[in-house]
Amino acid sequence: MSFLSNIFDTVVYMRPDRLTGATPWHGHIPFAFWLVRQLRPKIIVELGVHAGNSYCAFCQAVERLNMSSACFGVDTWQGDEHGGFYDESVFNELKQYHDPRFGHFSSLLRMTFDEAVELFDDGTVDLLHIDGLHTYEASKHDFEHWKRKLSNRAIVLFHDIEVRDRGFGVWRLWNELQSQYPTFAFSHSYGLGVLQYGSDIPTTVSSLMTSDDNQRMAVQTHFQTLGERVNLLWQVRELSDRLTMANKDLQSTDRLLDQARAIESQLRAENEQLKTDVNRLTSELGAEIDQLKRTVQIYETSTSWRITRPARSMSRVIRRLARRQ
Ligand SMILES: C[S@@+](CC[C@H](N)C(=O)[O-])C[C@H]1O[C@@H](n2cnc3c(N)ncnc32)[C@H](O)[C@@H]1O
Repeated sequence: MSFLSNIFDTVVYMRPDRLTGATPWHGHIPFAFWLVRQLRPKIIVELGVHAGNSYCAFCQAVERLNMSSACFGVDTWQGDEHGGFYDESVFNELKQYHDPRFGHFSSLLRMTFDEAVELFDDGTVDLLHIDGLHTYEASKHDFEHWKRKLSNRAIVLFHDIEVRDRGFGVWRLWNELQSQYPTFAFSHSYGLGVLQYGSDIPTTVSSLMTSDDNQRMAVQTHFQTLGERVNLLWQVRELSDRLTMANKDLQSTDRLLDQARAIESQLRAENEQLKTDVNRLTSELGAEIDQLKRTVQIYETSTSWRITRPARSMSRVIRRLARRQ
């Protein structure tokens, strides 16, 4: 059976559970799944975890494939000059996601790469992913420093081998390493270098390094297409999250509108009641005024009122004279 048939292993179609932000590593997740399946690494170490897109992909493969691998993700979770510096929320969010799912076989080591290297025995790491600071010096230092920890089954992954601006220099290191080790490279998603360090690698993996140009192109195209599918999946999730948010906003707007409508109809009802009350009071008042007028009229036309008129005139004259004096 051609080694090419292996790249169609069902694991490459598994959907990644964790996709955060628009990171180029999404495009390499199907290959990460495949590599874990084929290599069956006992110890996986990632240098540079950040939000955990690549690291959680390795962990997901270990968990779903029921492997007995131990995983270690190393990072200060402070950031660096290339990716930028960030706050505590990145580590806290990742830890909250990671610990309940993967805590029984995986550890997040919050320290520098140089500090972490002392925690491992020489010759024990089967899969090392180097994705820290991307200068030539830093990536070379990381590789040289961790080399003695690699086992005779080891594969080393280098991300960003295609980036040549902003002081990135992994491409330079990669050019050097290609002449020293069997390698395979993907150019999509900023490039991923696959370096065979050990001599005792499963043939399905080592065949990558010995494949001819046509086979290489078939493997690259296959994983690039699957990587694009993951990118699309992330976009769909993003859009559906935004849609859910927009729906929530819409629902609360609807609730506010309903409340406003209820208040409006209550105000209308109160207004109507006020109008009715005012009309009733006005007509009651009118009736009372009419009644008063009628009483005054009766009083003024009465005999006693007419008889006492001279006395009322006299009293007005006396009051006027008194005021003048
Ligand atoms: C490019 S990010 C890692 C991206 C990640 N692999 C992913 O899937 O998106 C690089 C990370 O390496 C960390 N880092 C860089 N140099 C480091 C060092 N010497 N020790 C520990 N962490 C380091 C930074 O804090 C940053 O989170």
